[in-house]
Amino acid sequence: MTTVSIIHFSGSGHTRLMAEAVHAGVASVPDVTAELIAIQGKDIIEGRYKNEAVFAQLAKSDAIIFGTPTYMGGPAAQFKAFADAAGMVWFQQGWKNKVAGGFTHSSSPNGDKGTTLHYLSVFAAQMGMLWVGAGELPSTLAGKTDGVNRLGSYLGPTGATPMNPGASAVVESGDLLTAQAYGQRVAAFAVKLAR
Ligand SMILES: Cc1cc2nc3c(=O)[nH]c(=O)nc-3n(C[C@H](O)[C@H](O)[C@H](O)COP(=O)(O)O)c2cc1C
Repeated sequence: MTTVSIIHFSGSGHTRLMAEAVHAGVASVPDVTAELIAIQGKDIIEGRYKNEAVFAQLAKSDAIIFGTPTYMGGPAAQFKAFADAAGMVWFQQGWKNKVAGGFTHSSSPNGDKGTTLHYLSVFAAQMGMLWVGAGELPSTLAGKTDGVNRLGSYLGPTGATPMNPGASAVVESGDLLTAQAYGQRVAAFAVKLAR
């Protein structure tokens, strides 16, 4: 069995919906176990993230997909606290040659999501991991404004939903399809590499 973990932070639920769609895509690939992990604020004490069970799960994963909302033009502080805690893994290059991926969600159509994806890919590179891009042409090329990769993001999937304070989180169907296709793609690579 190949194991793919999706670790994400979500403040108001949009990134969680994207993560669930990635998880569904991963789980649809035969011979793959998909693990969905949420970064919890309670695990951050005095600015430091600590959760040994999470790091144990990631250690036995063949692929890790990172998800965070874009806050202030970059990853959320909670995600960054997790990434900084992974510094102890970096010393040992414990995730070297694992497959990596990442996604983000924000409120504006652009919103500087590219900076967040850039950060996630650099983080993966520092960890010695192998980054998988979105691998999908934008659906707008075929005249569809709500299909896979509707936002034309190649480094990884993105989602955009205007802020609606107080309302339950919803994510555009095209962005969920993008996330699902990406989960499938990353998992398929992980299986190939494991063989
Ligand atoms: C502190 C903060 C900073 C934000 N910065 C950005 C930003 O730089 N670009 C953007 O498009 N949206 C920004 N937003 C909006 C969020 O990205 C958006 O609400 C997103 O859906 C949140 O994801 P979540 O529901 O998973 O927490 C920001 C929201 C917060 C709370």
